[in-house]
Amino acid sequence: MKNKISKAIFPVAGLGTRFLPATKSIPKEIMSLVDRPLIQYAIDEARAAGIKEFIFVTSRGKAALEDYFDHAPQLEAELKKKGKTELLEEVKNTSMDSGAIAYIRQHKPLGLGHAVWCARRLIGNEPFAVILPDDIIAAEKPCLQQMVEAFEENPGNMVAAMEVPKERVSSYGVLDIKEDMGSLVSVKGMVEKPPAGEEPSNLAVIGRYLLTPQILKNLNMKQTGAGGEIQLTDAIAHEITEGRPVYGYRFRGQRFDCGSKSGYLQATVSFALSRPELRDDLMGFLREVVNVEQAAE
Ligand code: UTP
Repeated sequence: MKNKISKAIFPVAGLGTRFLPATKSIPKEIMSLVDRPLIQYAIDEARAAGIKEFIFVTSRGKAALEDYFDHAPQLEAELKKKGKTELLEEVKNTSMDSGAIAYIRQHKPLGLGHAVWCARRLIGNEPFAVILPDDIIAAEKPCLQQMVEAFEENPGNMVAAMEVPKERVSSYGVLDIKEDMGSLVSVKGMVEKPPAGEEPSNLAVIGRYLLTPQILKNLNMKQTGAGGEIQLTDAIAHEITEGRPVYGYRFRGQRFDCGSKSGYLQATVSFALSRPELRDDLMGFLREVVNVEQAAE
């Protein structure tokens, strides 16, 4: 088995019901933080980690994603004519080389595990990354790159992990810790969405994974788990029962759950405040809102 990770799966076949009616016609991953769609942040993170092949698991209604990665000769010519070189560069960076990107359909939203399984023939016998584009992580060193570096030292299955408040743990996959080594945690069990009070820790799995090809074989069993879905967490947990290593990796960075409205809005404000050309205006507006709220109390 090759040890270098060069392929990443982006499961984007979910229904995005929390953003209806917007997601009736726009894929969630095309929604923007300031001026860049969520998927662009995920692609940039993957590129920084050395990923060369990008595999999208899509579904009906996701054509806007394919268009986004395509060349846009007319738009590019227009920007060139107008001398908008910076924008032109920005637009060119969004298109993908021929053959670097592949699309596979998941015909029914049977769960994240099933979405990953749909890409099995494109992965073959090598470790691979999975990135959920609705988890956006702001970090000095991109999260996936941190993980790839840790993976080179500790090959095995690795999931991004983050401490979450106790009352929210049961909406996540949760790690049962065998040994806590600081940023790396070895894991003796994993549960998807444990009932409140039964969670093994408050260390939750976030949408970045480095996985061995054995996971795809485990997914062949197509066992349904929490919520009646085929869960990626269960396929990873199976590795532990077979005595193979699974690690949690506490990444350095701030994670925003852009699959939820509140997380998406927080990310929008945070990313806008980090842009010098927007910061002062937005800060002034936020102060005004807070003052009005406080005066009303
Ligand atoms: P979510 O649990 O956020 O589901 O999926 P969702 O459909 O995107 O959104 P809601 O909950 O209805 O609002 C987590 C990730 O797994 C992908 C989603 O596209 C998202 O990136 N996914 C989920 C699939 O690709 N297929 C599935 O069957 C389920």
